[in-house]
Amino acid sequence: MGSRVQGWLRERLGGPLFGGFLNRTVPEETGLPHTLGSATLFLLVVQVVTGIVLAMDYSAAPEHAYDSVLFITNQVVLGGVLRGLHHWGASALVVVVGLHMLRVFLWGSYKPPREVTWMTGVLLVLLVMAFAFTGYLLPWTQRSYWATVVGTRIVGTVPVIGGWLLQLVRGEAEVGPVTLARFYAIHVLLLPALLVPLVILHLYLVYRHGIAPAPGAEATVRKTKRFYPDQLADDLAVSLLALLVLFGLTAIRGIPTEVRADPSSTTYVPRPEWYFLFFFQLLKYFQGPVWEPIGVVVLPLAVVLLLFFLPLLDQRPERRPRRRPYAIAAAGVAVVALAGLTYLGAVQQPPGTRTPPSGSSQALVERGHEVFVANKCLSCHVVKGEGTDFGPELTHVGSRYTADRLATLIRNPMSANPQASMPAFDKLSDADLQALVAYLLTLK
Ligand code: HEC
Repeated sequence: MGSRVQGWLRERLGGPLFGGFLNRTVPEETGLPHTLGSATLFLLVVQVVTGIVLAMDYSAAPEHAYDSVLFITNQVVLGGVLRGLHHWGASALVVVVGLHMLRVFLWGSYKPPREVTWMTGVLLVLLVMAFAFTGYLLPWTQRSYWATVVGTRIVGTVPVIGGWLLQLVRGEAEVGPVTLARFYAIHVLLLPALLVPLVILHLYLVYRHGIAPAPGAEATVRKTKRFYPDQLADDLAVSLLALLVLFGLTAIRGIPTEVRADPSSTTYVPRPEWYFLFFFQLLKYFQGPVWEPIGVVVLPLAVVLLLFFLPLLDQRPERRPRRRPYAIAAAGVAVVALAGLTYLGAVQQPPGTRTPPSGSSQALVERGHEVFVANKCLSCHVVKGEGTDFGPELTHVGSRYTADRLATLIRNPMSANPQASMPAFDKLSDADLQALVAYLLTLK
């Protein structure tokens, strides 16, 4: 039966397409490092599949985006899991695609005849970053909103055409409804339309030229093994592991609770997602009319062009890392610089959602709202139509109690009512409690 189906399919679809892909041989040394490419592909598929399902319930309008994401997370069957996979998948993709690129570079696999494979790969990395940047805004949280304000403002500092570029990216003067619509369209229409043909071309070229033998082994008699089942089993195992890690992160870390975007906030300290921290940090060293354009335009453009044209600039056939000291040193410097900038960005940047500049009452209230969200008060209380009505509605709680009373009710509900069923929030720090109370007092 199986073989009849196979025969039927082969006659219609042609043997080489599937059979050729599976039955090809790969160099014997092919192993775990080579699974990074297929893991990247797998993670892309996870993003596409989860993204399609998320889009079913998402609404790209500032009034609805945040609520639609809450709805997906809390109401849609498995919505929280899907969102978790998509959220962590984005970070995983950035990591794995970076490692894949590094592996290909160290092995010298970009050398003839695989130059175009490398070039399409560089474009794919850029696409992944574009996906990450546009997708970040979509939940319309305070953090994602202000990260986008800053990210797009950088575009505006490009000399001469900056103003025009900013208008193009934002679609309007400030980040607003048009920006959200535009980012969504780019995220789900434009980028996939570019991604799919590029991935196909990249895979076709991988298939066409085969896996590069280990550096230095080109001249010797090449031992090979079959792609199927040997290498495919490794590929599947690593992809499965990646999926388990995503599930694990979703289950253990969940999705960070963030508050709704407030475009009128003047105190919020923006902070980009971790994979853009290096660039954010880098720009801190390029300030002023002369240096800023260098940091914003010249340097990134130079790096991208250098990467893209690398196979044409470095045409020596030598692939052994030991014989390519400069290339390996450059990779080392690049990795250390990226890691260092990311680290500095993480420790120096005031953590926007944690400590807004103190002293302003607006900042305190915002912080209080975050404490409120983070402690899941909405799982028992309703505020302005949001939440669950297990406990009393809090929409006007600020007009009913004083600050001290509120603090006591939260720290020790039993003190007011021995039968209280609200858990005591006695682990809140004094600062968090003060902020929380400040926020509750605004509910009048
Ligand atoms: C597990 C459900 C639950 C959670 C979570 C919860 N509450 Fe409550 N809360 C209640 C209930 C029920 C009451 C009514 C008094 C009682 O039975 O304890 C209440 C009462 C209150 C009151 C007094 C309201 C009034 O009108 O008298 C305030 C204020 C309050 N909660 C604030 C909070 C805050 C702030 C949080 C988050 C830090 C929170 N609650 C989390 C269940 C909860």
